[in-house]
Amino acid sequence: MRNLLLTALAIPLFAGFLDDKKPLTTEQAQKLKNPIPYSKKSISQGRNVYMRMCVGCHGADGKATVDVVADATDLTAPKTWKSGTTDGEIFRSIRDGQSASMPSFATQIKGEDDLWHLVNFIRNLWPESTRPELQPDPK
Ligand code: HEC
Repeated sequence: MRNLLLTALAIPLFAGFLDDKKPLTTEQAQKLKNPIPYSKKSISQGRNVYMRMCVGCHGADGKATVDVVADATDLTAPKTWKSGTTDGEIFRSIRDGQSASMPSFATQIKGEDDLWHLVNFIRNLWPESTRPELQPDPK
């Protein structure tokens, strides 16, 4: 009986320990490095995911001028953003969501690669002078 009780107590503790989907802190997010080069190929892969999952709220051009559900962020104007504009912070905004109206995509977008392609696609929506330097497509 006592063993059973200990096991019952230990499981939630252990599960919490294993939970790698815990929302990232700002400090953790800022330390993340985008493993996928900002290339035409990655931007176009990001666009595919964007058109499936984000267009309804942020609009095809990212400006969120469509009559959207909630007041979605204009993704072409990074100066107005609330949660940071480093690659890692954008990654976090998408994976973990932001406030009540920007959903978390941690379960819908399984591969981290797709999240990074999205980050690259979003940076491609920014004013030209603020975009990263385009890298050659990986072979
Ligand atoms: C259900 C509508 C909805 C969907 C779907 C959605 N978003 Fe959002 N998004 C929002 C809203 C609303 C905000 C602003 C939240 C706020 O102001 O706190 C937001 C904020 C953001 C931000 C944060 C900007 C900042 O202030 O730092 C990013 C980045 C973002 N969205 C990207 C995406 C991407 C990429 C997708 C697709 C994977 C997506 N969103 C899907 C509604 C949505």
